Amino acid sequence: MAISAPKPRVLIVDDEPGLRDMLAILFRREGLDVTLAAGFATGRDAALNAPEPYAVVLTDLMMPDGSGMDLLSLARQRSPRTEVIVMTAHGGLDTAVEAMKRGAYDFVTKPFATNELRALVQKALEKRAIVSENERLRAQLLRQGGREILGHSEAMRRIFDLVQRIANARTTVLVTGESGTGKERIARAIHDASERRDKPFLVVNCGAIPEALMEAELFGHERGAFTGAIATRLGIFREAEGGTVLLDEIGELPASLQVKLLRVLQERRVRGVGASVEVAVDVRVLAATNRNVEEDVRAGRFRQDLYYRLNVIRVEVPPLRERREDVRPLAEHFLARCAAEQEKDIRGLSPDAMRALEAYAFPGNVRELENVIERAVALATGHTIGLGDLPREVSGAASQPTPSLVTLPEEGCNLDDVLGEVERRLLLQALERSGGVRTQAAKTLGVSLRSLRYRLQKHALGEAGDDSEPDSPRPDEGPELFPRS
Ligand SMILES: Nc1ncnc2c1ncn2[C@@H]1O[C@H](COP(=O)(O)OP(=O)(O)OP(=O)(O)O)[C@@H](O)[C@H]1O
Ligand SMILES: [Mg+2]
Repeated sequence: MAISAPKPRVLIVDDEPGLRDMLAILFRREGLDVTLAAGFATGRDAALNAPEPYAVVLTDLMMPDGSGMDLLSLARQRSPRTEVIVMTAHGGLDTAVEAMKRGAYDFVTKPFATNELRALVQKALEKRAIVSENERLRAQLLRQGGREILGHSEAMRRIFDLVQRIANARTTVLVTGESGTGKERIARAIHDASERRDKPFLVVNCGAIPEALMEAELFGHERGAFTGAIATRLGIFREAEGGTVLLDEIGELPASLQVKLLRVLQERRVRGVGASVEVAVDVRVLAATNRNVEEDVRAGRFRQDLYYRLNVIRVEVPPLRERREDVRPLAEHFLARCAAEQEKDIRGLSPDAMRALEAYAFPGNVRELENVIERAVALATGHTIGLGDLPREVSGAASQPTPSLVTLPEEGCNLDDVLGEVERRLLLQALERSGGVRTQAAKTLGVSLRSLRYRLQKHALGEAGDDSEPDSPRPDEGPELFPRS
């Protein structure tokens, strides 16, 4: 059996001590990491509490304290990648078939030849290895293929459009937007859409490199140009020859380099530190920032001439809270990717979890959404991500109307208007959740049907929803002045 480190882990559950020991010897000799359990309860505890799910669970079907069938369900629930082989006594064929239907990998009838069981376990492990490999590749694809920019919103569609149109221009592009909105990704998309796509795309973070090293980083240096310059370096601009350079956090570029960069953009030539000649470079320059550069220009922190050079084309990426339609496709994309990466069988988000995401303001934008989903996938125990798997600040977003409605604004507010608005939103949400069935919506809100009708009329939502029992008598249809409840 081809076994690579670490050893695959096998759980053997049987109430017959003799059989257990025999199997332990057999599979340890095969190089597997074997755990033994003397019955259903210990088997269940082992399957559920092991730090990692078992690769294979080998279980008896009928044990004094429980059934192997239940163990099968539990183990597969913990990880769909655990393969379960059931061992059944003679005559238990029907149950064995039932076990297969419930996801067992295969079964053997006792007494069995050890070779038969050994071959089965080996095949189960091979299947598992193939599935793992596929999922790893899928995750990798999603991450790379994931270079595409997702988004259904009008704003994002305009950006896709712009990206295509400017891809082959020679001019610089300034990408602006709050942190985590996808600026770098958009810059990459411009490069990928251009004829430069097979050449390098290099990113320099202007805020992360000390001023003293920045010039050499960008334009290269000669050997011995300064202490520590042991070998000649080309610098980012020359390394990216034929491709694209993204100057990230451009607002952080020190003043001395602003002048030098401007010259490079004008002349399309660079001179390394300590070099005596300039070298022509062919690179497309893109810049990104989450700062308000106009403000920096006004304050004299950023050169106006450089700003004009960089800002020839401007791509403004709106924050996620201004394009909430993008939350769902992004969340679903991140979910598929994280589930594949973490090898978990998670198929979606519950409706209330999705609603909470769509209501949340995401100060950290798409990056925050990505982190929230990654964490939720790690925490989730079932096949869907529920409200409880989301961080509290997000799950709370579903129940709070909006922060501005519960925080008294500086300038005060009109209490009746605010309360009315809260009522209107809750009515709409309750109707949405009940699929428009009014009796159901009334129950959700803890009010009588009559009271609900009155409130709907008050908000001119009179047409919204259907009473679920249209034939039931309606003694008084008119609005009540003092609704019960
Ligand atoms: N439209 C999108 N589709 C898919 N993934 C996206 C999208 N926008 C952003 N992301 C992802 O969100 C994360 C943050 O994006 P990116 O690094 O491009 O943001 P940024 O604006 O450059 O952030 P910062 O200002 O913090 O540098 C990345 O993992 C990126 O892949
Ligand atoms: Mg960035």
